[in-house]
Amino acid sequence: MSRLLVTGRQKLSGETYVQGAKNSALPILAATILSKGENVIYNCPQLSDVEASLGILRYLGCEVKRSNRTLLINANGVCRSEIPHELMRKTRSSIVFLGAVLARTGRAKLSFPGGCEIGPRPIDLHLKALRELGAVIKEKHGYLDCSAPNGLIGAKVTLSFPSVGATEDIMIAACLAKGTTTIINAAREPEICDLADYLNACGAKIYGAGEGVIVIDGCDNLEGAHHTIIPDRIVAATLMACAAATGSQITLKGIISSHLASIIPVFEDAGCKIRCREGSMKFSAPSRLSSMRTVRTMPYPGFPTDAQAPMLAAACTAEGTSVFVENIFENRYRHISELVRMGANVKTEGRVAVIEGVPSLYGASVEATDLRGAAALVVAALGADGSSDINGVEYLERGYESLEVTLSELGAEIKKI
Ligand code: UD1
Repeated sequence: MSRLLVTGRQKLSGETYVQGAKNSALPILAATILSKGENVIYNCPQLSDVEASLGILRYLGCEVKRSNRTLLINANGVCRSEIPHELMRKTRSSIVFLGAVLARTGRAKLSFPGGCEIGPRPIDLHLKALRELGAVIKEKHGYLDCSAPNGLIGAKVTLSFPSVGATEDIMIAACLAKGTTTIINAAREPEICDLADYLNACGAKIYGAGEGVIVIDGCDNLEGAHHTIIPDRIVAATLMACAAATGSQITLKGIISSHLASIIPVFEDAGCKIRCREGSMKFSAPSRLSSMRTVRTMPYPGFPTDAQAPMLAAACTAEGTSVFVENIFENRYRHISELVRMGANVKTEGRVAVIEGVPSLYGASVEATDLRGAAALVVAALGADGSSDINGVEYLERGYESLEVTLSELGAEIKKI
């Protein structure tokens, strides 16, 4: 088990490139199994969650080669429809393989994903939608056994909540269905658009990605394509929070500022100066932040739940009271008890967290219990007096590519042991 040792209060400076988006890479990797021929995926982050998806692709019969952040995937040899539990449980987003395997092979047998660190992760919307496309799904002994005896058939699917994963699963499955599928109340996240761009480059006919209604005309087959993964907006928000907590000035390169449209005003309200130009952002924080007022997590284009933890950590030392309302996941405040151990003054009640800013936090030995919570502890430790010892680094590595190296290069005192 690795840990991070952080000595706080070092100013950050300089510039860094933001990695490719994990949440784009994972569904795109699953979608490669629909295609015949070679796929070349550029800017794919090197993360344990990505490795887990590559493990599933190899098991299903794909040829996978990696050269740094470029992946070559050929799915011509797909020969299995079953994904064993040991592979499924390595990443929470493996459920997106359901639609992909079913569309490619006409059958899919995979283990039911359980709950996780941030609360229950139901998949009822995925299952209801796939049934509407003609899938027969049996749930027993912790497994989902799905088949499409007459092939998948396009249908009108209405989501009761704009679930990111369900939208992706349906989009992928519908690409090879007979006829037209319409998704009503689809998720609008940039990662949905990235998946649609990849699939359309393979020959799919997806219209309206990024809007509330997506229309997919089914095709007989798809060809492999070259595709570059978009930058990770949550990693960008995390680096902004690191700079904000340390009163620093940094430049982020390779970003898409429109994807940060709900995040930038929160930092600006807290006194940060932000200038975006041609894929780069100059971010400058005051020596002490003002409060972030009220931040409510919402589906895109609202404020992302994944940015809640790192930004809440920065708010702990702001002047005044900030309020966060977590509307997406039930159990997404587990980092708060660790922040309190570092001197933060935060009270939670249900979905609401009230943060009374303190002048400074102090270093402590703390334990991460989920991916974004781990990022929050890094933000807090960077801004704290003294040294912190952060356990649970394996969570961080699911979504951040060598964050400690990026931060050291920007001037932080942080090392992994
Ligand atoms: C994706 C992201 C995750 C992000 C989340 C919300 C990936 C790999 N992960 O997760 O980082 O935090 O979007 O932006 O892209 N729900 C149901 N039934 C379902 C599906 C979801 O009730 O069948 C509920 C969930 O419990 C949750 C809400 O809908 O409360 C949002 O979930 P969803 O948008 O599906 O998130 P994920 O796709 O799992």
